[in-house]
Amino acid sequence: MFFELTYTSKAIPNLDANDVFLLQSKYRELNDRKGISGCQVLHNNRFVGILEGKEIKVRKLFSWIEEDDRHIDVTILANGLIDQRQFEQWNMIFQIDMGDSKVGMNEQLFKDNLISLTHLVEKRTYTSRIFWNSVRELLEKE
Ligand SMILES: Cc1cc2nc3c(=O)[nH]c(=O)nc-3n(C[C@H](O)[C@H](O)[C@H](O)COP(=O)(O)O)c2cc1C
Repeated sequence: MFFELTYTSKAIPNLDANDVFLLQSKYRELNDRKGISGCQVLHNNRFVGILEGKEIKVRKLFSWIEEDDRHIDVTILANGLIDQRQFEQWNMIFQIDMGDSKVGMNEQLFKDNLISLTHLVEKRTYTSRIFWNSVRELLEKE
């Protein structure tokens, strides 16, 4: 049995691309070590993230994340028990509002593709549906 949790928050105004890059390369390693997988989107200074793993590990990590002063208004959108991971193959962060050269393709195209993905991706649980719907809302909002 695993546990998944999806949350949203607002990045602090002076969080720059470098901070985000540092955050994401570090996360992946830390999460791997804790057996946590997930996905995160940052757009228009808002984060939407999902974490999955052993309940105790996810809750502990989330309690740190909640206290991180690089973001505010941290809110849990949904959480629950799952029998299978869904985000093992995902990169931790999609970052699509940090200038135009980051993603190696036109930002709008990347965004459109990601919106399509939110429709297409299989959503086996309530929490993952909330995650993908929130990602879509975030991307569609200007
Ligand atoms: C939006 C956001 C998401 C985060 N997600 C993770 C994460 O998935 N894994 C992780 O280890 N730290 C994550 N962090 C960082 C943690 O809040 C915390 O800084 C880190 O886990 C503790 O390591 P440190 O004390 O070495 O910085 C996140 C921070 C923010 C602002």
